[in-house]
Amino acid sequence: MSVSVPVFTGADVEAAVSPARAVEVVRNAFVAHARGEWSMSPKVYVTNYPAGDFRAMPALGGGYALLKWITSFPGNPARGLPTVTGIVLVSDAETGELRALLDAASVTALRTGAAAVLAAEVLGRADADKAAVIGAGVNGRAAARTFLARGRAVSLWDVDSVRAAHVAEELGSSVAASREEALAADLVVTVTPGHEVLIGDGALRPGQHVSLMGADGPGKAEVADAELVRARLFCDDWEQASHGGELAHAVESGRIGREDVVHFGRVLAGEATGRESEAEITLFDSTGLAIQDLAIAVAALDAEPQGLATLAL
Ligand SMILES: NC(=O)c1ccc[n+]([C@@H]2O[C@H](COP(=O)([O-])OP(=O)(O)OC[C@H]3O[C@@H](n4cnc5c(N)ncnc54)[C@H](O)[C@@H]3O)[C@@H](O)[C@H]2O)c1
Repeated sequence: MSVSVPVFTGADVEAAVSPARAVEVVRNAFVAHARGEWSMSPKVYVTNYPAGDFRAMPALGGGYALLKWITSFPGNPARGLPTVTGIVLVSDAETGELRALLDAASVTALRTGAAAVLAAEVLGRADADKAAVIGAGVNGRAAARTFLARGRAVSLWDVDSVRAAHVAEELGSSVAASREEALAADLVVTVTPGHEVLIGDGALRPGQHVSLMGADGPGKAEVADAELVRARLFCDDWEQASHGGELAHAVESGRIGREDVVHFGRVLAGEATGRESEAEITLFDSTGLAIQDLAIAVAALDAEPQGLATLAL
């Protein structure tokens, strides 16, 4: 018996799930994960360095099982190819039947933008004003788009000034005059490849929040260890963050331990405290979770878009 499975292109995913809806469902997924209702295994890396790597990310929740197979090939833009490509498979958790295929890059961008902005809103100061996104690539654009969808003005900065200007014009945001200006915002989101430390010793000021999105794999870092040590730390998942994320180096050297880092999902679930003072610097280390992808995939299915292409299997 053959089955017909709907296929969501990137445009289909974007049409089905708005950035504002993405924030809502990603928040719910963090809470469900913190409560043990949704589950996932840490992502598995299949490496082919220096070219790039493949990641397999499974999750279970909301009546579905998901597998995301996604790449990171940093040299691809120079070849005219995207850094991140892949596919999301969604199956019925009760029967195992395949329910949908979705473009992984658009699912990733939506949930990454949502997680970055959600962390900034929840962990930033209540009177936080200016927001900035550093790194205006695919996922930086998504973070800026999400800030705007939440009604907050945002400025962009990128080593590639043409790219920053182009994205700012497309979204109707502004370009920061310098990296220093972007880094001085109350709410900062960094989404660079993580090959260079953007936030050096002493760069942050009291009360700032930074969502560190770029360093999501081994050997990457966007912030100096000294800044990590003087901040209040949050992560999306300790297993992933301590091995392949921003925190990994400081964990290896013993400067940071498990007890120093709070799971962001526990804050959203009301099980742990977030920001504790106006002066605190809060840092959110995001490595990207399969449960976030599941949230977006389920939202796309729930939107019941018409006219999708199908794959006969
Ligand atoms: N945490 C997560 O959930 C998550 C999700 C998706 C991607 N990522 C990671 O985020 C990073 C960016 O991904 P992408 O898909 O947006 O890549 P991309 O190639 O589309 O964009 C990267 C951007 O960063 C800019 N850049 C490079 N070095 C910079 C620097 N020193 N300062 C400022 N800008 C700089 C580039 O010019 C480019 O515009 C990657 O490391 C990726 O693995 C993390």
